[in-house]
Parts: sequence; C-alpha cells; structure tokens
Amino acid sequence: MTKRVLILPGDFVGPEVTAQALKILLAAADMAGIELETEEASIGGGAYEEHGSPLPEHTLEAARRADAILLGAVGGPQWDALPMDSKPEKGLLRLREELDLYANLRPARIYGDLVDASTLKKEIVEGTDLMVIRELTGGIYFGKPREIVGSEGRRTARNTMVYSESEIERIVRVGFDIASKRGKRLCSVDKSNVLEVSVLWRDVARRVSQDFPQIALEHLYVDNAAMQLVRDPKQFDTIVTGNLFGDILSDVAAMLTGSIGMLPSASLGENHALYEPVHGSAPDIAGKDVANPLAAILSIGMMFRYTFDRADIEDAIVSAVTEVLSTHRTPDIHTGKTRLAGCSEMGELVLNALTRAPLPRPAVGSKP
Ligand code: IPM
Ligand code: MG
Repeated sequence: MTKRVLILPGDFVGPEVTAQALKILLAAADMAGIELETEEASIGGGAYEEHGSPLPEHTLEAARRADAILLGAVGGPQWDALPMDSKPEKGLLRLREELDLYANLRPARIYGDLVDASTLKKEIVEGTDLMVIRELTGGIYFGKPREIVGSEGRRTARNTMVYSESEIERIVRVGFDIASKRGKRLCSVDKSNVLEVSVLWRDVARRVSQDFPQIALEHLYVDNAAMQLVRDPKQFDTIVTGNLFGDILSDVAAMLTGSIGMLPSASLGENHALYEPVHGSAPDIAGKDVANPLAAILSIGMMFRYTFDRADIEDAIVSAVTEVLSTHRTPDIHTGKTRLAGCSEMGELVLNALTRAPLPRPAVGSKP
C-alpha cells in the first residue's frame, strides 16, 4: 500500500534538516518495502510571506490527507512583531490543534559516546534514556480567555490554563501505555501545590493508575522535576505532563543528550501523526550547512515505529546514527575527537551507514 508523507520544511534551518531527513526516509522506505508518495507544502514565516497565513488552507488539506508529516522548524526574528495569529509559531500550533495531535513523545537518550558532548558531568548523564510525554493540544497554550487589554501603560494580559478530565485522562493513558513498553515507571509532573488544574491532573492520574497495576506511578512538582532532571536524570523512565511544563522539561532533557540538535519527536492523535525535531529554526546558523540534521533523521525513525509499525527500521536508523557519531559530528556536538561535518555531509554519512547495514535487526527489547 502506498503511504503519503507530507514534508513541511518551514523556516531557516528547517529546509536544511528536512532535506537530509528526506534522504533517510526514502532509503528506509525502500528497505522496509513501503511505497511512498511525498509532497511538500509551506508553513510558518515563509508561508505567511507567500500566502498571508502561517498555515495556508492547502497545507492543512495536504496534512489531513497524509499518513505522516515531517516538519522542520518555524519562526524567525523578522516575524516577532506580527500579531499573534500571523506568527509562524501559530501555524504549527494550529496544525497540532486541527489534527488533534494531543500526544507529544520526546525521547531523550544518549547515543553512543555522545556522553562527552553534554555540558553535564559524564557520570550523571551516562545511560540516560527517558521519554517525555507532553500534552500538546490543551492547557495554557490554547485556553481561553487569552488577551491583552487596556491602553498603553495600563495594559493587562491574561492566559488561561485549563484541562478537562477527559483531556488529562487520554494523555495519562498514553503515559501508562508507553511506560508499560519501557521501564514500567511513570512520573506525572504537575504543580498541584499551587494550581487547581494540577490538583485535577494528579487526581485523574491516580484514578487511571488503577488500570495499570504493573506501572509504578509517582508525582513530582514541576520545579522539582526540572531540578531532578539535571541532578540525576537516570531516575526517570517515562514522564507525563501538560503542555507548558512539557515544553520546558523537554528542552531541559535535550541538554542531557548533548544538544537540542539530537532530540526527535512524534506528535500523535487518533488519525494523524507529525514528526519534527525539537530544536527550533535557529536563524543564527541557517544557510551555513552547519545545522545538526540528526534530530530530524531520528524523527524519521519515530515515523517508522509509530506510523508504519516498523520499530526494526527505527532501530536501523538509530544504529546508523550511532555509528556515524563515533567518527563525525556537527559543531553543536563536536568535541575534537571526531571530524567536524556539515549538515549535508552528516545526512550523507547516515545514509551510507544505513544502506550498508544488513537487514535491520529485530526490534526485540528496543524501547519506544
Ligand atoms: C516546541 C516549540 C513550540 C512550542 C513553539 C515553536 C510554538 O517550542 O515544539 O517545543 O512551544 O510548543
Ligand atoms: Mg519548545
């Protein structure tokens, strides 16, 4: 059966990293015996310039048709002053909302000897392998009312953090489900000492946990969770949390792995799936062929696991990435022991390693 993949390169380094990821996608589909149809569309600042909207209607339609979407990155300083609804980020947020991509999976693990690229001590980060599951279509990102009112100098602004029981329940269930395929430990992160939303969150997490007696559930306040992540990341297996807390904690988790340029993600709903590197559009390094394409490439790996049900292909991509990292690295993770490589060279090297590899090893034991 033919699978449709929509590529949304986006802004600045977005097109550079998706170009490399696309090479891997095509080669991996070939290995997997999957017939692909790819299509490209615009999103973010570029789409605003060209079509007057950060999520043009034809892009949304193509997204609805796709079996999976690969997105690069959106945003840039020249669009910072635009009204909220025209900002590049709004394109991504609307896409998440329209496709109901409520479950955002952000795995943070150390690939091979990349441990030396982390700003944290080797003995602290070595062996880290955790998954942040972030609720992606609710909470303060989408709650209403949201506004800035009043005249200059006397303005007031407000946003609303809101979650219904059903919204909490469905993401917490994803948390238990993923934890049951990993280390069987789930840490629910909230701020229930201060926020009513978090009191409800904790309550629902406790109730749902009765359906998963084999999973050890613990609760942490978000401030403590941030501290624990840098103090002793190995204590974590699976973390589940709301939209804003997940945004922040996943950036913290990224730095354990050496660079945010290493962190892939999957945003899943009942009917759609979007894969994207967690890093942003990085205007400062765009156009120089120095961006790290590995987060985008690893996002393709996640696409094979979650959309095409081929964890074995994800394993093959991870092996290829690990192999390349032992000899070549982009500047963000370069340490001197390896050769410095550009974005396209890294993509080419991973492609070679992947296509040279024997048939992918069975996925037994590999964690989601
Ligand atoms: C992320 C990003 C986005 C978010 C931005 C670009 C809207 O930071 O995916 O983590 O805040 O969700
Ligand atoms: Mg973020």
